[in-house]
Amino acid sequence: MPFRTVFIAVVIAFALVLGAFLFNQARPKVETEQPSAALIRASGKCAECHLRTQYSVVHEYEMSVHARKGVNCLDCHQPAVGQQKKDHHGFVISTSLTAGNCRSCHENIYQQFLRSRHAAPAWAAVYGEKGLTAEQVNFSETYQPGGTRRPPNPIAHLEGGSAMTSGCEQCHSVGKPNDDGTIGTCTACHTRHTSSVRIARLPSTCGQCHMGPDHSQIEIYEESKHGVMFQAQERLLNLDAPPKTLTTRDMFVPTCATCHMSGINGVGVTHDTSERLSYYLANAISGKRPNYAEAQARMKQVCSQCHTPAIIDRVYSQAEQVVEVTNQRVLSAQELMDGLHKDGILTGPAFSHPIDFVYFNLWHYDGRTSKHGAFMGGADFVQWHGNYPMLERTVQLDSMATALRREHARSK
Ligand code: HEC
Ligand code: HEC
Ligand code: HEC
Ligand code: HEC
Ligand code: HEC
Ligand code: HEC
Ligand code: HEC
Ligand code: HEC
Repeated sequence: MPFRTVFIAVVIAFALVLGAFLFNQARPKVETEQPSAALIRASGKCAECHLRTQYSVVHEYEMSVHARKGVNCLDCHQPAVGQQKKDHHGFVISTSLTAGNCRSCHENIYQQFLRSRHAAPAWAAVYGEKGLTAEQVNFSETYQPGGTRRPPNPIAHLEGGSAMTSGCEQCHSVGKPNDDGTIGTCTACHTRHTSSVRIARLPSTCGQCHMGPDHSQIEIYEESKHGVMFQAQERLLNLDAPPKTLTTRDMFVPTCATCHMSGINGVGVTHDTSERLSYYLANAISGKRPNYAEAQARMKQVCSQCHTPAIIDRVYSQAEQVVEVTNQRVLSAQELMDGLHKDGILTGPAFSHPIDFVYFNLWHYDGRTSKHGAFMGGADFVQWHGNYPMLERTVQLDSMATALRREHARSK
């Protein structure tokens, strides 16, 4: 063979190898590093199309623990029990995924989640029992008495469908009953394709829903010592640490998840966010929960991974005082309102008089805020967003009630 031909052949061969290499580089990692033919068929084929059209979806999946452990696109996207099937470019997928697509591999977590107020009670807070089966209601009531068996929310009803869909439901659908018979979604905290514990542990993730004047948890946290320390030291924390072996070396500053869910230093991890709560702080009058003592001991055990008993007991005894005093103030306001109804001065449906709103804001904004602030280190919320407006509204209620009574007497 003449030298020239050999040279050309070598150049062509090199170009081919380089080309193949570059082509391979451009392909998604999931496609090139497939351990099995089945995975190539599923993730590889899905990624081939979706990388072009929705790069971020495939990229986020590639970075996930799922991709590393060989969980593929179809493992989640195939129709789970009870889901509608759809032909999709040679595959059969479900177009609407639910907790039902996660439970096949995470059944224990799904069961914990089902017992929590993030499940059926979150939905019932807006829609009442509607859409839930009798079985789902009974199940939830054994863990969350009164959480599910109740009428639809009167405010939602007054505001109408679009407020419910684009407002309430965006947060409360974390516990939506799905067509496949399951409840809720896991992706509110983990996102769809990162399936990340890091994201779930970030305060801002919980703060998507836990915010605003009626449940200012994120605002309280941000101004608390814990939130300030988190802001200062986030980069030093190991937010990716596996939940089963999480320690205070990984998380030496607590986030929402640390106190309400994590199993730090061997304390059991849970998806039931009620397990460590001793009061119904969201209620107008906050009573103790049925498992008061046990729940409080559980939360204190979390605090005690970082603090000595003196500081923990001080926080609890001061916060329980705030609960007691707030209960008294709301009770007085409630009695004032009950009196107006009993004497026929206030008639008609809920939220039809200006005074209804003053009373509602008093417990729903000010009362709740002072209680939440006291337990989670938000002094400004106990005071200027809690007790002060509560005082102002108490005076307003009194003067409005007096005026209403006078007017009523005159009209007789
Ligand atoms: C041949 C290209 C192609 C392949 C292969 C493919 N898809 Fe798609 N996919 C699309 C296109 C285009 C759309 C846009 C809507 C449509 O045409 O259905 C889409 C839409 C989707 C949607 C949104 C559907 C909806 O109605 O909301 C999901 C979810 C999805 N694909 C997942 C997958 C999964 C999982 C796989 C692999 C099992 C896959 N796709 C394979 C091209 C593809
Ligand atoms: C951990 C489970 C899981 C895995 C693995 C997974 N997905 Fe998804 N995907 C979801 C969920 C949940 C949704 C939201 C579906 C819904 O809206 O009901 C979704 C939505 C989508 C959508 C629609 C996105 C949009 O915003 O319109 C596409 C496209 C998609 N997935 C493609 C893929 C592809 C391609 C892969 C593999 C590279 C993949 N998914 C792997 C859970 C998963
Ligand atoms: C086919 C089985 C399968 C399905 C379906 C599945 N997962 Fe997973 N998931 C796994 C495996 C395996 C792991 C890795 C477990 C380990 O390493 O201990 C994992 C890990 C996780 C983790 C921990 C990630 C981390 O950073 O440590 C989260 C969160 C998670 N899955 C959420 C989900 C969600 C949400 C869904 C549904 C949208 C889902 N999974 C669907 C099998 C699955
Ligand atoms: C920004 C997200 C968000 C929106 C929008 C929202 N909620 Fe909530 N809601 C929450 C959170 C978070 C809680 C939990 C508060 C707590 O426990 O301190 C809650 C608590 C409640 C509660 C008290 C808990 C219970 O089970 O009785 C009711 C009732 C309620 N919401 C009804 C509604 C209604 C009705 C709407 C719409 C008119 C609505 N919410 C809009 C996030 C939201
Ligand atoms: C998609 C919105 C949403 C996200 C995200 C969310 N929550 Fe909630 N959460 C709710 C709603 C709605 C309720 C009220 C349920 C009810 O009582 O009706 C609630 C209630 C709670 C409760 C009170 C439970 C009880 O028994 O009273 C705790 C504690 C809680 N969430 C903690 C968290 C933590 C921690 C995170 C983040 C890891 C988080 N939530 C993320 C919507 C959300
Ligand atoms: C309210 C937010 C929230 C919801 C909703 C939620 N998770 Fe989680 N999940 C978390 C947090 C926070 C962690 C990490 C706990 C910790 O710090 O160790 C976690 C951890 C996990 C892990 C890793 C557990 C382990 O031991 O390795 C899996 C798997 C998981 N979740 C799956 C699910 C599934 C499945 C659902 C739906 C049934 C779900 N999650 C719903 C917040 C949530
Ligand atoms: C240092 C630990 C700690 C941190 C961090 C923390 N919490 Fe709390 N949280 C508590 C304690 C303690 C209570 C009151 C418990 C009780 O009732 O006994 C509480 C109460 C709550 C409640 C009230 C539930 C009810 O009864 O209405 C919600 C909701 C909540 N926290 C959500 C959050 C969210 C969201 C974050 C982050 C933005 C957060 N928490 C951060 C310790 C913490
Ligand atoms: C993961 C560790 C961790 C957990 C869990 C934790 N904390 Fe803290 N806490 C800290 C750190 C760090 C500081 C900042 C201390 C400093 O100022 O040096 C702090 C500060 C405080 C402060 C302010 C102290 C002061 O005088 O300024 C109080 C009060 C407090 N925590 C109460 C609690 C309570 C109550 C719980 C449980 C509901 C709890 N903490 C859970 C780490 C933790």
